[in-house]
Amino acid sequence: MNKYNRIFNFAAGPAMLPEEVLEIAKNEMMNYKNSGMSVMELSHRSSLFNDIITEAEDNLRKLLNIPFNYKVLFLQGGATTQFSSVALHLLKNKAAYINTGHWSNRAIIDARVFGQVDVIASSENESFSYIPDCSNLNLEGYDYLYYCDNNTIYGTKFKKVPNSFGIPLVCDMSSCILSEEIDVSKYGIIFAGAQKNIGPSGVTIVIIREDLINESSVYTPNILKYKIHSEKMSLFNTPPTYIIYMCGLVFKYLLNNGGIKAQEKKNIEKANYLYNYLDHSKFYKTMADKNSRSIMNVVFTTGNKELDLLFVEEAKKVGLENLKGHKVIGGLRASIYNAMPFEGVVTLVEFMKKFEVQYNV
Ligand SMILES: Cc1ncc(COP(=O)(O)O)c(C=O)c1O
Repeated sequence: MNKYNRIFNFAAGPAMLPEEVLEIAKNEMMNYKNSGMSVMELSHRSSLFNDIITEAEDNLRKLLNIPFNYKVLFLQGGATTQFSSVALHLLKNKAAYINTGHWSNRAIIDARVFGQVDVIASSENESFSYIPDCSNLNLEGYDYLYYCDNNTIYGTKFKKVPNSFGIPLVCDMSSCILSEEIDVSKYGIIFAGAQKNIGPSGVTIVIIREDLINESSVYTPNILKYKIHSEKMSLFNTPPTYIIYMCGLVFKYLLNNGGIKAQEKKNIEKANYLYNYLDHSKFYKTMADKNSRSIMNVVFTTGNKELDLLFVEEAKKVGLENLKGHKVIGGLRASIYNAMPFEGVVTLVEFMKKFEVQYNV
């Protein structure tokens, strides 16, 4: 048994954090750098917090190789708030959206409040189980192209960045950021809620190309204006200070462990191990198209609702938690984000084998 009796948490978010990060947070909790306070109690205007947020941004820039003409913002309101913010800033005439399921659909609904939104590619015809071909979209006259890179609920992921033919490309990377190397220069805006690969819930990272910052609708409230957040270095109002500190610890941890390249290798190994078992099993079925599979969210089922529920209950008894699929599609889902150790996936597969032997009648 491990030191703290910790379980393997397969939740889609909030998700596991690296134990090394939690240890540092624990050790620094009561008196951060001789301030006589915890980070939670520090003023967001203090030099100590300034160091925390500056270092966090610098390290994120290193991890993702973010070009100088991009700003990094630490915002509140979750990834969901960005569904509106993006449209308020970029939607002038009409916007093109790729619909790959629940989260892109939510973004479409929120953007439509502000103007014309056309769904120019979709996988709705096959219950969002695949990623549509987006190599040659007709984007004439559109202000921007929007997509959700990794579809947390359906376990699908774009294998290629859609070709935006020069218009700004906006991407929701909430459930895959920091999981693989990316070329930030292909994007106008990348945003991601922290609670999967970045840190605890409560902050949303926005990486935005500078030339897109100034534009915004007259109806944009100050709290949503990228310009204000950028000028105030994410300190326009009181930011979630402790969450930013935790994200900073995660960034440092990733840098100290080989950066995104090394993390991507680990993620592929974990996902391959699980998919390989699933592909050889006659008991479990995967739900996403093989060519569109996510390496973060592995969605599968026994094909029987009662057995799926029993699976979740039995798994919990042996320390494998939160394996229930999202209510939108049911079934089972193992979210194996960055902080899930390989050992966690091996333990899951061992449990799956036993369950299969017991219930495969
Ligand atoms: C891909 C994706 N986008 C957006 C969201 C919504 O994020 P938030 O709860 O931070 O608003 C989620 C939440 O799980 C998600 O998985």
